[in-house]
Amino acid sequence: MAVKIAVTKETRAFEPRVAVTPESVKKLSALGATLVIETGAGIAAAISDADYEAAGATIAKDAPSAVATADIVFKVRDPSEAEIAAMRPGTLLAGLINPYQSRPLLDALAARGVSAVAMELIPRITRAQSMDALSSQANLAGYRAVIEGAEAYGRALPMMMTAAGTIAAAKVFVMGVGVAGLQAIATARRLGAVVTATDVRPATKEQVESLGAKFLAVEDEEFKNAQTAGGYAKEMSAEYQAKQAALTAEHIKKQDIVITTALIPGRAAPRLVTATHVASMRAGSVIVDLAVEQGGNVEGVVLGEIASVGGVKIVGFPNMAGRVAADASALYARNLVNFSALLFNKEGALAPDFEDEILKAALVTHAGEITHPQLKA
Ligand SMILES: NC(=O)c1ccc[n+]([C@@H]2O[C@H](COP(=O)([O-])OP(=O)(O)OC[C@H]3O[C@@H](n4cnc5c(N)ncnc54)[C@H](O)[C@@H]3O)[C@@H](O)[C@H]2O)c1
Repeated sequence: MAVKIAVTKETRAFEPRVAVTPESVKKLSALGATLVIETGAGIAAAISDADYEAAGATIAKDAPSAVATADIVFKVRDPSEAEIAAMRPGTLLAGLINPYQSRPLLDALAARGVSAVAMELIPRITRAQSMDALSSQANLAGYRAVIEGAEAYGRALPMMMTAAGTIAAAKVFVMGVGVAGLQAIATARRLGAVVTATDVRPATKEQVESLGAKFLAVEDEEFKNAQTAGGYAKEMSAEYQAKQAALTAEHIKKQDIVITTALIPGRAAPRLVTATHVASMRAGSVIVDLAVEQGGNVEGVVLGEIASVGGVKIVGFPNMAGRVAADASALYARNLVNFSALLFNKEGALAPDFEDEILKAALVTHAGEITHPQLKA
């Protein structure tokens, strides 16, 4: 019997993405799987049931019937309670399940005997790069943040010299230069803005400059050691944050668009822009807070809204990658195809190696238990 992969419509608000595309259906079939997809699962990402059927998938009338006989369930986000209840013990689930903030979900998955993989925990090693969903989605989020910022700004970004006079180039400031921030810099530069950027990791300075932007940061002793072995930022001391806030205060009041992307894994997002900073900005300027779902980098950001504070617009859209749903789904689906290579043997049978470095790092529940060391407590 072929391995059965089920994909359902996402149930969370603001979630138009889908975990498979017609292209990935074909690739998963080549590994030895048959695909069952809930009707309408792809519609918000511009994929019809007929497109999936043409690629060889079967359409199920609802989510429980799709997952009930599945060996594997692929999701973009977490499964609903009804989906978990319909899964068989031993089902392998993969999705962006937000493991650090989802204790009840982990308990429910463990109790059901589901082997759940948190795609966020795929390690950032060379072999796993093609499975790195955080990167594929952050890249699109960084791009889209600039588009949303430009839309809210309501003015031109490039310098324009016309017979009627000159329009000055917009000034864009990117705070946090990981995957999303780098793409935001590149996108803002392509649109002709004058771009500056900041981060606490020294390695970012060269990356920022290589994209033609100017780097700005408090470069003290703490800054020199701010990167963890895993490549992420450490939580900075109150003293550093005060120095950073003072530097930001001078710079931010001259900016037209500010994009914030700063995150610390497993923690609330650092507060980088205070109400005082916002109050110093010109009316009509815009802040886009990509960290809004982790508590926000900006004081006054409102989840799902464009807040107006003294004429400054603070964009708090969640799931920015979802606002480019077709491309985000295509990249995520490819991440899952690459990940699936770890699950199948050459004969097309399900044979996950739970001792594999990648699978081990991302597996959060297995055989009735929460297995991930950092999530157990
Ligand atoms: N396969 C790989 O090797 C691989 C893949 C993707 C990313 N990476 C690396 O992982 C690292 C993290 O990238 P990410 O995009 O996931 O980061 P992230 O989403 O965790 O954070 C975004 C950025 O915010 C910055 N930040 C955190 N606190 C800050 C503060 N107080 N002030 C200013 N900036 C702050 C971080 O340094 C980071 O650059 C980077 O070094 C990236 O190059 C490696």
